Amino acid sequence: MTAFPDNFLWGGATSAAQIEGGRCADGKGLSHLDYVYYRGPKIPCNFMLKKDLEKAKAEESTLNFPNRRGIDFYHRYKEDIALLAEMGFKSFRMSVSWTRLFPTGLEETPDPDGVAFYHNVFRELHKYGIEPLVTMCHYELPIGFVDKYNGWVSPEVIGPFVKYTSFLIDEYKDEVKYWLTFNEINMVCAVPWLGGGIVLDKDGEFEMPVFRKGPPNLNKLPKELLHQWDQLSHQALHHQFIASALTVKYAHEHAPQCLIGNMFNLHHLYPETPSPADALRAHEETEFNMFFCDVMAGGSYPEWIRSYYRKHDIHINYVDHYEEILREGKVDFISLSYYLSSIVTADPERQERIGSFIRTLHNPYLQTSDFGWQIDPTALRISLNELRDRFHLPIYIVENGIGAFETPGEDGTIHDDYRVAYLREHITAIKEAIGDGVEIMGYTPWGCIDLVSCSLVSMTKRYGFVYVDADDEGNGTYERTRKDSFWWYKKVIASNGEDLD
Ligand code: BG6
Repeated sequence: MTAFPDNFLWGGATSAAQIEGGRCADGKGLSHLDYVYYRGPKIPCNFMLKKDLEKAKAEESTLNFPNRRGIDFYHRYKEDIALLAEMGFKSFRMSVSWTRLFPTGLEETPDPDGVAFYHNVFRELHKYGIEPLVTMCHYELPIGFVDKYNGWVSPEVIGPFVKYTSFLIDEYKDEVKYWLTFNEINMVCAVPWLGGGIVLDKDGEFEMPVFRKGPPNLNKLPKELLHQWDQLSHQALHHQFIASALTVKYAHEHAPQCLIGNMFNLHHLYPETPSPADALRAHEETEFNMFFCDVMAGGSYPEWIRSYYRKHDIHINYVDHYEEILREGKVDFISLSYYLSSIVTADPERQERIGSFIRTLHNPYLQTSDFGWQIDPTALRISLNELRDRFHLPIYIVENGIGAFETPGEDGTIHDDYRVAYLREHITAIKEAIGDGVEIMGYTPWGCIDLVSCSLVSMTKRYGFVYVDADDEGNGTYERTRKDSFWWYKKVIASNGEDLD
């Protein structure tokens, strides 16, 4: 079996909204994620109907907004980076908060405190030889764009975004070599609020799902709402594709030393049975998952999605010269998040929600996490091979991991053998994929230091090698403690993936 290359980028991943805190510090503006309010430790809440956003605003002084606190990385980044360095990190994935640089998204010049903050963080990382991997947009959108334009639905957001990303390239190109444009760009279709700052508007009694998979629809929603969902999210997606491609083109022209990737949530699917009907469903879902890379890495819309648009009465207002823009803005590498696999059937009514996001069937061959996510390292290996065959680009695995309920034992630490087991199996799968001939640049497990969960806006779902003493209400010392997995991952990195015991 081929071992990991010498320059393999071992590290961990985070996002600004989930770690920084200091949400209003030094002139920072608020993003749409700052309006996601806490509803309970296991209640997914990244869904916004118009009435939810109105409530968030009307009750702003009494509701609990954990993203505004994060884990206080804004003030503790030196301590946190020192811990990552102690594990031997070669790479740290973080995002820049658009509203820390441009508080409303419309300013002519960036906020100097925000600009200095990210220089300080990059400097601190380089002090330890850690390469920053920077996501330009990890979901966050200035709240004013939600109010004025319904988020990415409007082409008006493209200009300010490209101004922001061009600034990032110009300002930080000597400190940041690896960039990603949008985090999990497919989320705009799955969770329109989260991925696109899109507010859906419908009165009536129905159970709102937190996630919508690709065609065909699996949720029992009013038809008009479904159509609104599809229409708005695919229009917004088009604008994000354009904004990303323009950013990539700018980076290629102004910072040829940088590499810039897309990022999508890899969703591996099995048909429930060998029946052709189940296989067709699995094929459709897989194509939908690959569609996001087809556009960003392949540079054009696949024909089948246009036919999907026709069949579902979806009308996209394509930006002028969009085909040329997409062709000229193809990414240098593919990056992905991967957590679980799922099963599809020709009878989607039988699929149920497991965990926060996914509607699937239980796979009897797999174990699940505390949150019901089905653990499947082999699916990662299969998908890596498929991606290589389809796109022939290097792949960076920028999210993977296991979320768990954790409280320190009597000795004050967390004995997270389940995390070690999960990561060991996934690292083995990656090693096998490298042996299969897939070019993999690096691996940055999610939430390397505990952070606010995205789907639950909660501290009760933890992913880290480092425990943070903070609860859902913001109580706690915010002290950092090394978990057992900290020492294990340190050994993995030191041995370049050879010692996984
Ligand atoms: C990815 C996101 O979808 O999954 C992260 O990019 C998120 O922001 C991660 O935190 C895990 O999801 P959750 O809901 O467990 O935090």
